[in-house]
Amino acid sequence: MTDVTDSPALDVLLPTDRAGARIAPAAGEHELLDLLDADGPWVRANMISTLDGGATGPDHVTGSINGPADLRVFEALRTLADVVLVGAGTVRQERYGSLSLPAALAAERRARGRRETVELAVATLTGDVPDRLLASDRPPYVLTTPGCPALDELRARVGDDHVVVTGGPDGVDLPAALDVLAADGLTRVVTEGGPTLLSALVAADLLDELFLTWSPVVVGGPAPRVLDTAQWLRPVRELRPVHLLHADGVLLGRWTLRG
Ligand SMILES: NC(=O)c1ccc[n+]([C@@H]2O[C@H](COP(=O)([O-])OP(=O)(O)OC[C@H]3O[C@@H](n4cnc5c(N)ncnc54)[C@H](OP(=O)(O)O)[C@@H]3O)[C@@H](O)[C@H]2O)c1
Repeated sequence: MTDVTDSPALDVLLPTDRAGARIAPAAGEHELLDLLDADGPWVRANMISTLDGGATGPDHVTGSINGPADLRVFEALRTLADVVLVGAGTVRQERYGSLSLPAALAAERRARGRRETVELAVATLTGDVPDRLLASDRPPYVLTTPGCPALDELRARVGDDHVVVTGGPDGVDLPAALDVLAADGLTRVVTEGGPTLLSALVAADLLDELFLTWSPVVVGGPAPRVLDTAQWLRPVRELRPVHLLHADGVLLGRWTLRG
């Protein structure tokens, strides 16, 4: 297991009144969590891009473009969330399993009054959710539609209360699905993508903040972008920077979509 204290420090570049501050790695990441924490409810996205806009490397996953600085923010955002929301494509390609946090982050999570565990919610039209998740002790919420061909099986595997059925052929009704999660106390949502799901969340104006890491590599090729959809967003959405961090050439931004 990686020792977080071997990870790089994060230098604050923005906001200017905090520029020059350095957030050293620490097991409980108290200082980093303070920087990232905010009163809920919220919907946040955490994504990574290469400098030429690629959301994956040549391996078609993010493993070849992420690194230890990005992992610090990735785990901190999970620590602060009630639920991690992902599209089934990401679950399948990035080989998601049940979520768990390092012990020190779990303790920090408890100290901040968060629920004991961070839940996983998977959006899918097909119902093609890997068996390792459906069979786990803590199965995910599955957000799907009435036309899902695997509806009965999903209900049998994860329980009726974990299958949220909304929307139609174009996808889950994301506002309605998030309301169902909120009714279960899951009001702090971090989505880890992928590009299809993130596009739908932004198009529905559900996203409050985007955490975007720029990895200092270029990959060319047919990589998707962090929002990947055939339709333009009309109107285009404007974001404002909240902070910008730096470590070893990696830039880690936080942007708000709210006025
Ligand atoms: N750079 C990054 O930060 C980042 C983050 C995550 C993923 N990725 C990469 O992105 C690639 C996957 O891209 P992707 O766009 O396919 O990811 P995705 O959004 O995770 O997966 C798309 C699938 O998710 C389900 N889905 C998404 N939105 C839905 C909605 N509104 N309603 C119902 N179902 C919905 C559908 O599943 P079904 O097919 O089951 O119907 C859809 O085919 C992978 O290569 C992954 O490595 C990159």
